Amino acid sequence: MARINEHYAKLPASYLFPEIGRRVRAYQAAHSDANVIRLGIGDVTEPLAPAIVEAMHAAVEEMGKRETFRGYGPEQGYDFLVEAIRQHDYAARGVDIAADEIFVSDGSKCDSGNVQEIFASAARIAITDPVYPVYVDSNVMAGRTGAAGSDGRYSGLVYLVGNEANGFQPDPPAETVDIVYLCSPNNPTGTVATRAQLERWVAWAREKEAVILFDAAYEGYISDPALPRSIYEIPGAKECALELRSFSKRAGFTGVRCAFMVVPKAVTGVDPSGKRVSLNALWARRHTTKFNGASYIVQRGAAAAYSTAGLAQTNAQIAFYMENARLLREGLTAAGFTIYGGVHAPYLWIRTTGGATSWQFFDQLLEKAQVVGTPGAGFGPAGEGYFRLSAFNSRANIEEAIARIRKAFG
Ligand code: MLT
Repeated sequence: MARINEHYAKLPASYLFPEIGRRVRAYQAAHSDANVIRLGIGDVTEPLAPAIVEAMHAAVEEMGKRETFRGYGPEQGYDFLVEAIRQHDYAARGVDIAADEIFVSDGSKCDSGNVQEIFASAARIAITDPVYPVYVDSNVMAGRTGAAGSDGRYSGLVYLVGNEANGFQPDPPAETVDIVYLCSPNNPTGTVATRAQLERWVAWAREKEAVILFDAAYEGYISDPALPRSIYEIPGAKECALELRSFSKRAGFTGVRCAFMVVPKAVTGVDPSGKRVSLNALWARRHTTKFNGASYIVQRGAAAAYSTAGLAQTNAQIAFYMENARLLREGLTAAGFTIYGGVHAPYLWIRTTGGATSWQFFDQLLEKAQVVGTPGAGFGPAGEGYFRLSAFNSRANIEEAIARIRKAFG
């Protein structure tokens, strides 16, 4: 008999978004004429930018000719993409990242789920709460937690509660941890860490010799030049932080799949003998063993997102989504909702009304307005009483959703 990984039994039966999908399908099956507007999972709706499409077409042509065909590429990513990342994402902001510190992948969800593998089973993990569920679930699967308690918290994890009082930006933990996951701009709350807050995190990590796993998948949505887009804009971060970046929300790649992780060589952990080991070497070993590189066609598309035309076109898409966010924020605030986020992120974090739990509010919104959002409790116990709306949709659907919500709850 094959023995299974018993830690999976600690997880809820489904991951958050498939569970929402299941509930929406059940609603639609019972209401076949309902025109449901989906502001749940943060999935882009604008088509790929023309510069990206053009580059991917050209790459397909190359792959179709003997002289330019390519098989396996470099596991860490093609030079043309790695150089574009180095220049545009880092050098342009005064940060020097070496080519071999960048690992191109097929998505930040995979990277954020996989990265825990290079740390000890006994590593103590801190997460913010509410939080992107992948950070928690991947550590549950790896056996770093006990069971979830009646409060929804897994024993063994350190929860850093984000709430209205701290602007959903909790402080570093008092207790000792090995690793903390941070996400800014934040999924799910849509709030963003200031430079001073990131400085505090970096100072804490250096003092405690902890590692920060910094998820910057939404950095493209930051419009205030004073806000850091990368943790490496904070001096000292290259000794204590890994950074995750994605083309999904930056360039509309949710269905194309391309991302990267930065693992500076100066970030170290300790082995059981106390010897310092570079996380870069561990991640390189893991990446080259378990991954054969993102496809050439996809990487050509990603590189085109950095061309002059690609940047202009993808920035226009981001501006479009952020105008959606502004309309949602203003329209729903005027209807009496209390709203956070949505200024430097495509997510709005809304306090539920009438004392509804977040799943009750999910049902009410679906029943009364045929609008789908994401219950805050799905992001952790501290998300209870909140609800997330995504700004990814057509302008017509956003306007219709605002009108329906106002009518149903106004
Ligand atoms: C979300 O809605 O939280 C994201 O789209 C999920 C993801 O990026 O995996």
